[in-house]
Amino acid sequence: MEKIYLPSEYQRRIKRVLVSQEEIASAIEKVGQEINESYDGRPILLVSILKGSFVFLADLCRAITVPCEIGFMCAKSYYNDTVSSGVVKITMDLDQDVSKYHVIIVEDIIDTGRTLCDVVKMLRARKPLSLKVVTLLDKPDRRVVDFHADRVLFTIPDLFVIGYGLDYDEYYRTLPYIAEYDEGGNEDV
Ligand code: IMP
Ligand code: MG
Repeated sequence: MEKIYLPSEYQRRIKRVLVSQEEIASAIEKVGQEINESYDGRPILLVSILKGSFVFLADLCRAITVPCEIGFMCAKSYYNDTVSSGVVKITMDLDQDVSKYHVIIVEDIIDTGRTLCDVVKMLRARKPLSLKVVTLLDKPDRRVVDFHADRVLFTIPDLFVIGYGLDYDEYYRTLPYIAEYDEGGNEDV
């Protein structure tokens, strides 16, 4: 696959906006309030699954007004492709002892479900006080393992999406909205 270096080519691959900035902001506000209400007075650890969830985490943690801590884990299941390799590797682990926390896993998108299935299994074995999964996006049509998040902000069809932390070949994470990626975008160049 060729890297994109031209701004015009970069723009052309953004097919259409699927979830707007405003829709994301109001959905996050709501989830923040739900967390404030149900976790008040408990030690919360938000576990961000990198890299994709960093933008979502940044907005979600600022919608939470009760005390909470943040941890990072890097799980890789895609290797510069739009098709899952089916291999989940933890390339960076948390530095907190999860047995002291009510853990909320913060994920960008659930596709085949393999990443979270593995991550949840791994974290449950460390005996957190409780464990829930919040995902910005869910693509249920693509599931190959039985996995359900506790809270889904947006359910989307089987499309490859970019923006708001989600990448195509490491690009597009900085878009402020979720867009559909145009795979054929460079054919008419
Ligand atoms: P799963 O293990 O197949 O559920 O894949 C989860 C990971 O694949 C996500 O955390 C994303 O990093 C990546 N992923 C899945 N679908 C998309 C997509 O449409 N756009 C960008 N990344 C995706
Ligand atoms: Mg991810």
